[in-house]
Amino acid sequence: RTQTSPEQSLTVAQLRIQDLPMFQQLQAAPPDAILGLNEAFARDTTDGKINLTTGVYKDAGGTTPVLECVKEAERRLVETETSKGYLGIDGMKEFGDATRGLLFGADHEITTSGRTATIQAPGGTGALRVAAEFLATAFPEAKIWCSRPTWPNHPGIFSAAGLEVAEYDYFDAANGTLDAQALLDSLAQIPAGDIVCLHACCHNPSGVDPTPEQWQEVSRVITDGGLLPLVDFAYQGFGDGLEPDSAGLRALAGPDCKLLVASSFSKNFGLYRERVGALSVVTGDPDTAAVVLSRLKQTIRANYSNPPSHGAAIVTTILGDDQLRAGWETELATMRARINDTRQALADGLAEAAAGHDFSSITRQRGMFSFSGLAPEQVDRLKNEFGVYMVRNGRINVAGVTPDNVGRLCESIAAVL
Ligand code: LMR
Repeated sequence: RTQTSPEQSLTVAQLRIQDLPMFQQLQAAPPDAILGLNEAFARDTTDGKINLTTGVYKDAGGTTPVLECVKEAERRLVETETSKGYLGIDGMKEFGDATRGLLFGADHEITTSGRTATIQAPGGTGALRVAAEFLATAFPEAKIWCSRPTWPNHPGIFSAAGLEVAEYDYFDAANGTLDAQALLDSLAQIPAGDIVCLHACCHNPSGVDPTPEQWQEVSRVITDGGLLPLVDFAYQGFGDGLEPDSAGLRALAGPDCKLLVASSFSKNFGLYRERVGALSVVTGDPDTAAVVLSRLKQTIRANYSNPPSHGAAIVTTILGDDQLRAGWETELATMRARINDTRQALADGLAEAAAGHDFSSITRQRGMFSFSGLAPEQVDRLKNEFGVYMVRNGRINVAGVTPDNVGRLCESIAAVL
């Protein structure tokens, strides 16, 4: 090695790795159930193809916009930022404070008491992964329970971290509604000490949430059963508004509660590619929160060391400035209203194109997604014959439907029914 140039030794090393039999036998992994469809969509040459796969907001023109408040915050950051040095392992304190304020309310005891450890994470997915690794090491006997159905990446993340995954009842497929009794019965049977993954609002993929009263019941069963909630909060503001969307979390956030919240700013700030999320672990007291924080930092250091700064700095700037925050809430309300109007347009279009089939549940569902009830074979036909892409479980990203594509979409769906 001392006699060869760096280029030569690199070539030798590469050849040796290529020659290892274990790489020759390696099987390719299947494409991701959601993000993998974008790759197939990009290759599709069908005229008028429609992408309703990933949960990404699009405006009526089919564009995922950068919010005005984000542009303004970025301008300010360019002017004021003085360093690109590393952040601390747990990220920016101001970001953590702002996150708790948004989730629980600025004056809530959980926001102010110091019994919560909050870390800045690369997206909601990053927050879930840190949570999962923390839980798997802190509570190795505990199983994690996910709703049936759930976001396909939940079991992927949890099992990759070493947690055993099980399912509880949630959706009434025949009526396109929540099966509230089955949910409560099923939660009541989970052994004490296990973890329950809940979607705070805009359930992914069904678009069906408990009412505030049903959340109180869920909270009672979880508390009585000695279960630990892990709340995935990725769509705050996309259902009925920032406050109403946190009704479920706040029902769980009683005086003695212990819980985890993995929250994301991808959707409500349109910061998808900036990877901004947070994990908040609510413990019993500040001393325990400090212990938990040390464990979270140990996990983070061994994963990505410390979080990216830019997206979290944008969120902190907006939430800390009255004018920018007001602008953000207006832009968020516009996105929410467009999705709800689109639900109506889609239901009306399907009522016309596919008379005799009931798609009325689309208008009762909330958030970006709608469970169409289409079977995997029908979804395959939509893709192969019409260039219409949705997740194979029949999930439609309603936010990807526009005035220009809704007619073609409804006719294509009608053709495969
Ligand atoms: C989705 O469900 O489409 C989004 O949460 C994006 C993702 O990462 O899957």
